[in-house]
Amino acid sequence: MHNRINKLLVVGLGLIGGSVALAARRAGFAAEYLGVDLAQDERQGALTLGVVDRASESLAELVPEADLLVLAVPVLAMQPVLQAIKPLLKPTAVITDVGSCKAVVLDAATAVFGQLPPRFVLGHPIAGAEKSGVLAARVELFERRKVILTPAPDNDPQALELVRQLWTACGAEVLEMDVTQHDQVLARTSHLPHLLAFSLVDTLARRDERLDIFRYAAGGFRDFTRVAASDPVMWRDIFLANRDATLDALDEFLNGVQRLKSAVESRDAEALVSIFTRAKSARDYFTALLNETGYQTMQNKRINFVTQPGGGPVAGQIRVPGDKSISHRSIMLGALATGITRVKGFLEGEDALATLQTFRDLGVLIEGPHNGEVTIHGVGIKGLKQPQGPLYLGNSGTSMRLLAGILAAQSFDTELTGDASLSKRPMGRVADPLRLMGAEIETAEGGRPPLKIKGGQKLKGITYDLPMASAQVKSCLLLAGLWAEGETRVTEPAPTRDHTERMLQGFGYPVFKQGATAAVQGGGELTACDIDIPADISSATFFMVAAAISPGSDLTLEHVGINPTRDGVINILRLMGADLTLSNQREVGGEPVADIRVRYAPLKGIDIPEDQVPLAIDEFPALFIAAACAEGTTRLRGAEELRVKESDRIQVMADGLLALGVDCTVVDDGIDIQGKGNETNVFGSASLQCHHDHRIAMSFAVAGLRASGSITIEDCATVNTSFPGFAELARSVGLKLDAISG
Ligand code: S3P
Repeated sequence: MHNRINKLLVVGLGLIGGSVALAARRAGFAAEYLGVDLAQDERQGALTLGVVDRASESLAELVPEADLLVLAVPVLAMQPVLQAIKPLLKPTAVITDVGSCKAVVLDAATAVFGQLPPRFVLGHPIAGAEKSGVLAARVELFERRKVILTPAPDNDPQALELVRQLWTACGAEVLEMDVTQHDQVLARTSHLPHLLAFSLVDTLARRDERLDIFRYAAGGFRDFTRVAASDPVMWRDIFLANRDATLDALDEFLNGVQRLKSAVESRDAEALVSIFTRAKSARDYFTALLNETGYQTMQNKRINFVTQPGGGPVAGQIRVPGDKSISHRSIMLGALATGITRVKGFLEGEDALATLQTFRDLGVLIEGPHNGEVTIHGVGIKGLKQPQGPLYLGNSGTSMRLLAGILAAQSFDTELTGDASLSKRPMGRVADPLRLMGAEIETAEGGRPPLKIKGGQKLKGITYDLPMASAQVKSCLLLAGLWAEGETRVTEPAPTRDHTERMLQGFGYPVFKQGATAAVQGGGELTACDIDIPADISSATFFMVAAAISPGSDLTLEHVGINPTRDGVINILRLMGADLTLSNQREVGGEPVADIRVRYAPLKGIDIPEDQVPLAIDEFPALFIAAACAEGTTRLRGAEELRVKESDRIQVMADGLLALGVDCTVVDDGIDIQGKGNETNVFGSASLQCHHDHRIAMSFAVAGLRASGSITIEDCATVNTSFPGFAELARSVGLKLDAISG
């Protein structure tokens, strides 16, 4: 906390000025609050409401006392106000302002002082209301709002810090930008929408002088034009002050409207749906930002899982969401195919949505997802377009690694970025072999993201022995191979998921397969097809383990993908004594599926066969919970890859197990877990970290079924990357689990 300042002076006691004083007062920011305003009723109102302790119409009376001045006058009045306060200021006084345009304030200060005074920090709170005047002031107006400061290089650091503290004390989040960027951004996100709202309402009112038309207007009109009720004089000043940036924004908008007009004129349905879909996805993204639910913001959102004892038995018949690996690939291949690909069962989790958004950014029209249905208007193998900026892939390693293969072969440059967890994951494993194919890729230190991929490189096929069992690396190289000269041939040290190979064939692209080797010949085409995505066996695993450890359970999981390169969890659980039966086995779109019924049976510890490790690579966190509930020791070896997943899954799981009272010993490539088989309560009670790893969060949620007390798992928002709705579904089959947002 700062040292309380003595006197804070607000010049201009309107909505914003009044609210600053109220919020600063609540935080105890200053000893005394002063206000200057020419209007008698604003001064009177401010005194009556307790906004300020003293008010005057004269700057000369109060400015000489002020330690911090907040100039809350219209931007075009800034210059005369600065002129008037200049001879009155204490040498130590700090000044800030709240104007919506910053270049005009900077110019005014330069005109008056010869340069921006070092103790004048320009600012702009992004908050307001249609009402104006001090009577509309609210103490919470800035809470969780953004305040943009546009500091100059020679601003006094102490002055900057004081202004920061003022806004933080008002509850705002403080950001910094430069003046030009501020004015450009605000012209687009605030000034242009106001201009359009004023214009639409005025245009309609002119057509219908009696205003009858507004009787029929509904929610759309109301939402679109709400801001047309704002203060006309203030907005006149803003448009005059931010003239150039507003004109640029208006030109862009007029071009956009012209494009829409032409599309309507020429009945171009595809152009219309393309524009609307892009707009909808941008608006949905904005909504997610507002609600802090999107993959871009989940790091900021805190969701804790809390389990209570007494859950189970686990019973019912459920279908978990669609397979994540297949969902990614359906978008990628659908985008690169010729024709329209319709996908059912798409996983609407944030990882797969990151891939979907990326292909939109690469110029592909994608409709949906609506209830798991996605329609992709393929652009063909040469049809991707350069994106506007870096491609953000959130938490998704699969997106980044597979895309690296596709993008290495394009004619344009790209940059791939990710969240804090993805930014720590190794990308050399794809960058190195892609370079052997002729790609130009820059990584950050240690082969980490971001990846900067240079376009326009001619790739040639290679023969490559994968140093680790990784479906992502295999898929990356096969995908790059579609554009490479000659054959790209990869051999894996152990079988890994083969969805890429299967799906390429489904799209009519020949894949040569022999033993541990897969190969493609460059230069072919993909033809669109329909895809029915099975439920994700990795998501089903949490429920298989839940039923396997909770006495009396009987649960059926429907339509689960049981591809033999993914069925390690079934084999391992059976070896441990679990009662699993598969029924209704069939093939859907080239992938085997089945209904899996799990009934409780006592489990025993085993040595997990090493050949099962790649086939169950994502299932180990949940299998560790099963191991803790088994009789005897379970030993895992050959699983060093677990250390480079969304977290170090060996260490993070071991830390959690130990905290819950389960003995385990960690080795480099695995773990030994001492099961507590017969004991009713295998786990104690603790508060655990899942290190933002979705699978660890869900695994410990399942452990709650055999715990003596409550388990809190912190920071579980990333569960949305693979399993939206997990907590609700878990409750519906008998787990006692709450997702609590903080
Ligand atoms: C995946 C491959 C696996 C797996 C990941 C999804 C894929 O990663 O862990 O969740 O879709 O290809 P590795 O290739 O790193 O083993």
